[in-house]
Amino acid sequence: MIPAMRTQITPAEITDIHQVLADHHRYWGDRDLRSLHVLALVHEFGETCLVARAEDGIHGYLIGFVSPAGTGYVHLIATRDDARGTGLGRHLYAAFADAAHRQGALRLKAITSVSNTESIAFHRHLGFTVKIVDDYNGPGQARAVFHHVLPLYAAQP
Ligand SMILES: CC(C)(COP(=O)(O)OP(=O)(O)OC[C@H]1O[C@@H](n2cnc3c(N)ncnc32)[C@H](O)[C@@H]1OP(=O)(O)O)[C@@H](O)C(=O)NCCC(=O)NCCS
Repeated sequence: MIPAMRTQITPAEITDIHQVLADHHRYWGDRDLRSLHVLALVHEFGETCLVARAEDGIHGYLIGFVSPAGTGYVHLIATRDDARGTGLGRHLYAAFADAAHRQGALRLKAITSVSNTESIAFHRHLGFTVKIVDDYNGPGQARAVFHHVLPLYAAQP
């Protein structure tokens, strides 16, 4: 495990996403989510697509954007297998919340598959509410839907 302190969170470059995709299994394991890495999102929402970079590569990243209605939507977040449990996912969310707030976001939202218990636990730790929404992604495709009113850490001591 590596300390999150050695990473720097900055807006993502397209080349960063290529790097992540080349090492996809280190962020997502056996799940193949490569098709969800839509580069247009990084081109168009550069300020809210973030990477945590260090000397030995990208420790984590977040692809997100702010909707016209003021929702900071997180499309993807992942930390590298050797960077988990160091607080990096929390740091990425905090940086995204700041960037989204600067663009007028009032709340955050994300979704995950119902079977992704790690993501559900992670979002709960960050203070998100979790709702299982039937048919969210089409017939028979429920999703766990996360909501958090900004600011992100108001409830923490
Ligand atoms: C989910 C993920 C991004 C979490 O990143 P991380 O860097 O390990 O998270 P952090 O270390 O910042 O943890 C933040 C909090 O969540 C908790 N948490 C993180 N993962 C957890 C897990 N699997 N089970 C229980 N709690 C967890 C931590 O204990 C911590 O709580 P605390 O600050 O109150 O002590 C990471 O596990 C990951 O990349 N998973 C694979 C990709 C994925 O599924 N992404 C989510 C898709 S929506």
